[in-house]
Amino acid sequence: MSECQLNHSVDQLREEVTTSVLQRWKREGRLITMTTAYDAVSARIADPIVDVILVGDSVGNVCLGFDNTPPVSLAMMNHHLEAVARTRPQALLVADMPFLTFHLSPEDTIRNAGGFLQRGADAVKLEGGAKRVEMVRALVGCEIPVMGHLGLTPQSVSLMGGFKVQGRNADDALRLLDDAHHLQDTGCLAVVLEGIPAELAARATETLTIPTIGIGAGPKCSGQVLVFHDVLGLTEGHRAKFVRTYTDGFQLLQEALERWAVDVRSGAFPASQDSYRLPEELRDAVANWLPSRSI
Ligand code: KIV
Repeated sequence: MSECQLNHSVDQLREEVTTSVLQRWKREGRLITMTTAYDAVSARIADPIVDVILVGDSVGNVCLGFDNTPPVSLAMMNHHLEAVARTRPQALLVADMPFLTFHLSPEDTIRNAGGFLQRGADAVKLEGGAKRVEMVRALVGCEIPVMGHLGLTPQSVSLMGGFKVQGRNADDALRLLDDAHHLQDTGCLAVVLEGIPAELAARATETLTIPTIGIGAGPKCSGQVLVFHDVLGLTEGHRAKFVRTYTDGFQLLQEALERWAVDVRSGAFPASQDSYRLPEELRDAVANWLPSRSI
């Protein structure tokens, strides 16, 4: 894509993104883009490009060195959300509710989610279907917009026996469709569909009025989400089949850092343009200065 085409598509996206705009876009068939951001740098890179920024609990495995998301705490999420929110993104800002912050009671759930809104989030996301209806109802009742998340929900990875595609048998497939409708009926603004067969995601998208945002759920969703570091090739090791990487960010950044280290070792950095100078009249005095003898 040329620079001119890129600027054009960026300009077109500048309509302020709200929950009702997302629903209108679904009706109009305009596909929604969502990616993660965990700090101010990634938020500033993503904000002019995408419609929705998710401060995902994937921060745990992407940035904090955990193997999965259950170890991510509310305090960690608050820390990363605050960094992203300080950049005042124009994209809709969604914060992921980490494991055990929306399970214990409606009061606890409202307090945790309300804290995200007070820190600048526009909405929260939580994993699970019919089991979560009570908590979703409590949040919506307090005017807290909620995005659902169904299918391969990473917080349930132990129960699922690993990162496995979900909804491949009749019971699971029909339960997922029911769950999606429960979430819609309870007032969710949209639902993320992760790691499910494309036909199942397509049926959910056709039968729901709220948008579906797919990740490993095929092309017939109302939009797509991928983790920022996956798109930019910044994650190492195994990548899921559904991840398309658009640059080898890891290697590009290492090459740039290596050029700097080579310049330091050869004395080429810093040069005069990278340095501050004394005023001319002080230079001789400083150059001729000697330490006074210690007593
Ligand atoms: O935490 C996350 O990044 C997510 C997306 C993958 C949907 O939940």
